[in-house]
Amino acid sequence: MLAAEVIRKGGLVAFPTETVYGLGCNALNPEAVARVFEAKQRPSFDPLIVHIADEAALDGLAHTISLNDRLLMERFWPGPLTLLLPKRAQVPDLVTAGLPTIAVRMPSHPVAQGLIREAAVPVAAPSANPFGYVSPTCAQHVADGLGERVDLILDGGPCQLGVESSIASMVGSRPELLRPGSITLEEISKVVGPVVRAPKNLTMVAPGRLARHYATHTPLTILTEQEAQPMMPLGERAGLLAMTEPRHSGHRYCSIEVLSPSGDLREAAQHLFAALRRLDAQGFDRLYAEPCDERGLGMAIMDRLRRCAEPLT
Ligand code: TXA
Ligand code: MG
Repeated sequence: MLAAEVIRKGGLVAFPTETVYGLGCNALNPEAVARVFEAKQRPSFDPLIVHIADEAALDGLAHTISLNDRLLMERFWPGPLTLLLPKRAQVPDLVTAGLPTIAVRMPSHPVAQGLIREAAVPVAAPSANPFGYVSPTCAQHVADGLGERVDLILDGGPCQLGVESSIASMVGSRPELLRPGSITLEEISKVVGPVVRAPKNLTMVAPGRLARHYATHTPLTILTEQEAQPMMPLGERAGLLAMTEPRHSGHRYCSIEVLSPSGDLREAAQHLFAALRRLDAQGFDRLYAEPCDERGLGMAIMDRLRRCAEPLT
């Protein structure tokens, strides 16, 4: 496979995963890792997730794996769960931004698995978008955002899940969820007991949880539960991100994106980023987004919407 060779030679390959597209490189090659940071314009204090295809690859990355980690791997790997593990010294510090832990995940997408297996190295891969922008859920999104800065884009069609992996840590005294994602807090708790959600301001521990992130260029406001129609300034051109088919008529939106006509959260998550990008591309003054219930996958969807809604600083 050409793509595997590009990775082995220190190049950058964008590839599909079940969550979003990743921008991959050899995690053990510091120059290649530096190119990923440069391509994304990502600040070097924001560490990357390392992708593996089998558990044997863990030995070279992490030095201890707790029982809870083992249980979570057994239950959710391959799949959209990233675990923080104590890092081995041979992993370049750039990958983990100097942190003592390394984020590892085993994607289930066959193209991702094939690439990692053939490259025969762990693959460091952030989402394949310019830093801070909405993550890519199809190959075209990657080309739009990174274009020439990627050596090769593997097109695996649209991503099935649409929001990034959940990031959990068993390193501290209690199981922690650092980023809500495709695997829900409830599902993780069933395996390891009560899980605490990491407080939002711990930006030194997980810099990628910076307040404004996954953000459109157009400012976005989240509507309140009751608010079918916001107070829009006169003449404002706005788009609406609706969770289900809007019930009211006579709205003033120039465009409406419905995430799931039947109100299915899986479908909503799958379409979230593509819908945000389509609305963002129309140059409106503002986007409005309907909230959803924060249970299950709703927690990840609301997390991404809130970060998108943060004011520019
Ligand atoms: O679904 C996903 O996870 C996708 C696909 C491509 O696998 N990847 C992804 O990567 O979302 P990225 O770089 O966009 O987000 C990784 C997040 C960042 O917020 C980063 O701060 C956090 O993981 N992270 C990585 N290593 C960490 C560490 N050692 N401690 C805390 N947070 C870490
Ligand atoms: Mg990202």
